Amino acid sequence: MPDAPRVLITAGPTHEPIDAVRYLGNRSSGRMGLAITRACLAAGCPTTLLLGPTAHPPPQTSHLLVHRFRTTAELESLLRETWPEHDLLIMAAAVADYRPKAVSDEKLRRSGDGLTLELEATPDLLAGLGPLTRPDQRVVGFALEPADELETRATGKLERKGLDAIVANPLETMDAETVTGTLLWRDGRAEQAPPRINKQMFGEWLVSRLLGTFSR
Ligand code: CTP
Repeated sequence: MPDAPRVLITAGPTHEPIDAVRYLGNRSSGRMGLAITRACLAAGCPTTLLLGPTAHPPPQTSHLLVHRFRTTAELESLLRETWPEHDLLIMAAAVADYRPKAVSDEKLRRSGDGLTLELEATPDLLAGLGPLTRPDQRVVGFALEPADELETRATGKLERKGLDAIVANPLETMDAETVTGTLLWRDGRAEQAPPRINKQMFGEWLVSRLLGTFSR
């Protein structure tokens, strides 16, 4: 029997600092990535989790390696360090698209005037991994989009980011209890998960699909 693939999972939001105490974040809870992590462990895969700032704890087991990140830049360097030792990347983290251009070391004080934040684009982490990815490695992304344009936008991301597959979820999935998701493959196949299942069941469904195809 072939070895179980070594899986690298990213989960949770990023926090991009504005000053000493404030940040720009998003509503991702990380629960989807944590559910996928549990499913990979249950399937016997050596698993590494890169986990963002969330109150939900990672599984406590010596079979799982956990690294914490806060910013997009921290996640980027963890990905570059860890990706070569893995076979499959499941990129469930909700990565910021923009971050404050200048970060104040001190706490910004209120003044009578308004405040304008200048933002700069963050790097596209998945696209950036392209040159570091070997032909034997597989990369799966996530797309959270309005239901009426879900499939078109997800397919665009799959192609633009050079992914093997993408999980397409309607916007309402963020921070919700249940998921209605579709797995879109590079060859054009679309697999629909049972509708409105909880995140743990979705994680198990997804991992069973991915391991079926990506086993070494
Ligand atoms: N992602 C990434 N780097 C970023 C932003 C997103 O690698 N800077 C990853 C996410 O982890 C996810 C996938 O790309 O797996 C799609 O994320 P999304 O935010 O929907 O894509 P964007 O490239 O930001 O596209 P857009 O802003 O056009 O929706």
